[in-house]
Amino acid sequence: MRSVQVVAGVAVVAVLFGVGVIATARGENGQHFAQVDRGRYLADVADCAACHTTPGVQQPYAGGRPIETPFGDLVAPNITPDQQTGIGAWTDDEFDAAVRRGVMPDGSRLYPAMPYVYYSKMSRDDVLAIRSYLRTIEPVHNPVTSNALPFPYNIRTAMRLWDWLYFNPAEFKPDTSKSAEWNHGAWLVQGPGHCGACHTPKTVLGGDKSAQALQGYSIQGWFAPDITSGKGALANWTASDLVDYLRTGHNRFAAAAGPMAEEVAMSSSKMSDADLKAISMYLKDVSGPGKTTSNAPDQDMMTAGAAIYADLCSSCHKSDGKGVPRLIPDLSDNPSLKGNDPTTVLRVILQGAQTVATDAEPTSPAMPSFSWQLSDEQVAAVATYVRNSFGNSGTSVRVENAQDARYDLQSRADTN
Ligand code: HEC
Ligand code: HEC
Ligand code: HEC
Repeated sequence: MRSVQVVAGVAVVAVLFGVGVIATARGENGQHFAQVDRGRYLADVADCAACHTTPGVQQPYAGGRPIETPFGDLVAPNITPDQQTGIGAWTDDEFDAAVRRGVMPDGSRLYPAMPYVYYSKMSRDDVLAIRSYLRTIEPVHNPVTSNALPFPYNIRTAMRLWDWLYFNPAEFKPDTSKSAEWNHGAWLVQGPGHCGACHTPKTVLGGDKSAQALQGYSIQGWFAPDITSGKGALANWTASDLVDYLRTGHNRFAAAAGPMAEEVAMSSSKMSDADLKAISMYLKDVSGPGKTTSNAPDQDMMTAGAAIYADLCSSCHKSDGKGVPRLIPDLSDNPSLKGNDPTTVLRVILQGAQTVATDAEPTSPAMPSFSWQLSDEQVAAVATYVRNSFGNSGTSVRVENAQDARYDLQSRADTN
């Protein structure tokens, strides 16, 4: 390995001192622009702006947005080129170490709310391209204190242990038995796209359960469903259904809400068709545990739920649950409704939902909130009904689940 690097190093030196001398200034600029462009694209794929920009504030990458973790909030720092409060004074090595290793210039560790575990699959070149792009951003003077975690989670040194337990920094290694497109898709999903940050089940300490990669996890009051295919939840989606969803936020089955709506708006809608196809090809090949089976739901709840559905929901979602293609999501055979976790269903019923608007599909239909209209019993009943009709089989939703969800939404509203 080392000798390969030496040979590559010699080649670089030869280029610098040989061909380099005759390169015109314009050629070098061209190269620089290409690197900045690649960096901008990679920053979109990696969705750096989602966390490092405060929504509603016109200061890209100036930080200040609280990032919710199971242990408390962390505030994303300022990564504009400001010398004092941003990363303007950082060397390339320091930047690379933070983004791919989670190590700060003073040697302390970042919390994995910054998805360095995934970004470690990128190459140093990729990360330095992102840096070149970030250098072109307006510097903003905005001091940010990032660590607002309660004791004992506020002890950064504990992260050394975490890294030791859950972090194997390693660049992406292609699987030679698969095609180049498959490998590119795998790299996007496991690396810069960090899909597992939301979709992969976590241990109590927040590490990925890698044996269950992409099989669904509950984050920030939403459920990011199982996105495996093969025998998994998305078995019925074709690769082009996936491309549609990632590009526009909806397709014939589903509409993206909550954190996924943001992911689509800021990241996947900006990806090239070739990259979206590669992601879809890869996801179609990742096999999950197969459909979940559950006990028969409570019949009284089903009867009450059916009546509420006919009354309040069927005008949009239709009596067969099929909805309206591209406008109202299809509730039949819908992965967000199946499985053991009713978080998303409860949230959508209580809070309503707005789908994402993208350049490709600028209209974004909305679902109204039903929290003022339905009691906890009624919410549980209609949620149980949609989770066990139209080809879905989910667990029954208990009244306490609805109570908890209402309380959770209330406390989020209070703290926001
Ligand atoms: C899911 C949210 C999230 C995403 C996406 C994200 N970051 Fe971060 N980032 C954070 C948080 C939170 C911290 C602070 C962590 C801590 O305090 O331990 C951080 C810290 C950093 C730091 C350290 C800066 C400092 O002053 O402490 C750098 C550099 C950084 N991120 C760059 C990036 C880049 C580049 C990308 C895209 C490739 C990115 N981040 C994507 C949440 C995110
Ligand atoms: C910030 C968290 C987050 C990230 C990052 C994220 N997702 Fe999601 N995703 C979600 C949530 C939450 C949902 C459920 C949205 C809903 O119910 O409308 C979802 C839904 C989906 C769905 C639809 C599943 C269904 O059954 O309706 C697909 C497909 C998907 N995500 C793919 C991806 C891919 C591919 C990536 C990486 C490029 C990704 N997601 C990254 C949170 C995330
Ligand atoms: C005015 C039309 C309208 C009505 C009435 C309505 N919905 Fe919706 N519903 C929508 C739209 C639009 C979305 C897509 C929003 C999103 O999740 O992005 C949606 C999304 C959903 C989802 C999430 C689907 C997914 O794939 O993530 C569920 C579950 C749902 N609705 C259930 C219900 C139930 C139960 C009722 C009745 C209590 C109801 N809806 C009433 C329009 C409606």
